[in-house]
Amino acid sequence: MAANTIAKVFPPKGDLVLEQYKAKHKDSITDPNGFWEKAAYEHLDWFEPFEEVLEGSFEHGDVRWFSGGQLNLSYNALDRQVRSEKANEIALVWEGDEPDDIRKLSYADLLRKVCQISNALTATGVKKGDVVTIYMPMIPELAMTMLACCRIGAIHSVVFAGFSAEALGQRISAAKSKFLITADIGKRGGKSIPLKKIVNDALTKGDCDEVCQHVFVWERFHKGSESEPTFEMGPKDIRMDPLVAVQRPYCPPARMDAEDSLFILYTSGSTGMPKGLLHSTGGYALYAKMTTQITFDLHPGDLFACVADCGWITGHTYVVYGPLLNGSTTFMFESTPVYPDEGRYWDMVQRHKITQFYTAPTAIRLLMRYGDLAPQKYDLSSLKVLGTVGEPINPEAWRWYYEVVGKSQCSIVDTYWQTETGGHVITNLPGVTPMKPGSCTLPFYGIDTVVLDPHTGKELTEPDDSGNFEGVMAIKQPWPGMARTCLGDHERYMTVYLKPYPGYYFTGDTVSRDSEGYHFIIGRMDDVINVSGHRIGTAEVESALVAHPAVAQAAVVGQPHDIKGQAICAFCMLTVGYEESPELVKELRMSVRTEIGAFCTPDLIVVTPSLPMTRSGKIMRRILRKIVCGETDSLGDTSTLADPSIVQTLIDKVTSLK
Ligand code: WT7
Repeated sequence: MAANTIAKVFPPKGDLVLEQYKAKHKDSITDPNGFWEKAAYEHLDWFEPFEEVLEGSFEHGDVRWFSGGQLNLSYNALDRQVRSEKANEIALVWEGDEPDDIRKLSYADLLRKVCQISNALTATGVKKGDVVTIYMPMIPELAMTMLACCRIGAIHSVVFAGFSAEALGQRISAAKSKFLITADIGKRGGKSIPLKKIVNDALTKGDCDEVCQHVFVWERFHKGSESEPTFEMGPKDIRMDPLVAVQRPYCPPARMDAEDSLFILYTSGSTGMPKGLLHSTGGYALYAKMTTQITFDLHPGDLFACVADCGWITGHTYVVYGPLLNGSTTFMFESTPVYPDEGRYWDMVQRHKITQFYTAPTAIRLLMRYGDLAPQKYDLSSLKVLGTVGEPINPEAWRWYYEVVGKSQCSIVDTYWQTETGGHVITNLPGVTPMKPGSCTLPFYGIDTVVLDPHTGKELTEPDDSGNFEGVMAIKQPWPGMARTCLGDHERYMTVYLKPYPGYYFTGDTVSRDSEGYHFIIGRMDDVINVSGHRIGTAEVESALVAHPAVAQAAVVGQPHDIKGQAICAFCMLTVGYEESPELVKELRMSVRTEIGAFCTPDLIVVTPSLPMTRSGKIMRRILRKIVCGETDSLGDTSTLADPSIVQTLIDKVTSLK
């Protein structure tokens, strides 16, 4: 249905298609086994059919899909296309940091290269089930390396190349990852990022040097003839380009059980160390394939561009796996939306004739600031579907995207999902679902969304005075793309997702659902903030701050920000003997950059004599949030504070800094 409609329709073709979606959605949740069984055989090639569709439950945390079935994701993404006459079609178009740095690879090219990488990894001892950490720039070799891991059954753990040595080290050590794949340098906005140097530094942290045995290094500008390495070789280092070049360009795909681990991806939570969410082969592959095809209404000849980084789940599902599983052409982008100028995205749309374009509200707001001229200068008529992801999109940005970029001719798909969900769980379908700015609209097939009362945990049955249901965003039954566990810590997985509201998957978000069933995501319920679409745990930033000797205690909250959505605001209590100074504040900022990464740098650091704490010593972040939001007339009950006078001190301090 959706997949066969022409996307460039708005308003949608009529009630009929919406009714068809509704009927199909209803079937998919009333008979999930029937729906997913059919879908799994229709969308994927299996080496061995599965024995069961769905087993296990949220209650026991033992969900499994398609068990007994055998398949390989890289086979489905590459061999399957080559065998269905797509060998010479372009699989991947890459545009580097400089607009004239372009590479195009056919499905046959990609398969050969992925096979060579697979063989190179195998030759060095990488085996099925090993965790391979990938810390690379957005170059085609990153996608190929991910696919090579899938091909041999190694579990990749991609760490966004904006993370610091400290954060990378933590992830290597938490996953006991013996293998690390990196590049000499990355490029972004005309600047070089010394990735290999950061890796060397990471290996000096904790037990990383012991854990990590081999470091594979791609050379960013390797042309095949250089004999000298472009970086200083250490004892664990292996030059990737020459090693790969001598490998046989075919490697048989590993026969993976549908429930064999596919990859892990670390994501922030409200407490402690980021969790390594584990996705499994069959369910993820199916969900990535279907959501890409249906949400973006993919057609033969489309050029699908998701401009996210592969360091995040969006890059996994919608730069690499989803488009290739569909035999589509995927576009991979290394640079930023404003390099060399603010017309970069639109220039790319025009030059490559991009048909689907997928970005985050923060980028839209940033570009909107520069005015309408940039998008008007380019021919954007190839566009059919515009996607948004990462945070709620404000209606003003939605309209700009719709009118100025899409010329009121494109559907905007507002896709709500998470690292944990593997792919879209709530989204409109182009030409099918009438859009409402700011709403991610209706659930995807197989997704049974519910709104729970935060106190009783029961499904809301009565709307509020405005006719909406506002409460906890939860999902009532398993879907194939869901993460199965947190690597090495299933208890944490249960505690965070499945135990808070027994029988439901808890998203961590609050939602308002209107009388037509449209979802409007309000935001996180936990101590997670969303900066430019990046999920950041306040606990992580706090621990980065207290790592500095000057900081005795820190409390971090989100503050509304025009472009980033939220910005980080940190309240710091100093250790005795330290004085506030501009230098110190600068140092504290640096401290966060080196502990986590530049994208987590606080916008505001407030040095304070004390923090609003209850008598039992719990920091009342709610009050800090109100203060930074300027909502000081609705602070709520402050009587439980050990020292209520701190509130005024903080208000004065924040006002003086703004
Ligand atoms: C959190 C998940 C999924 C890829 C990007 C972020 C927020 C995501 C939307 C949207 C409103 C959204 C939620 C969610 N979020 N998409 N379309 N509308 N909020 O992945 O880092 O796992 O973060 O991002 O709060 O829980 P993530």
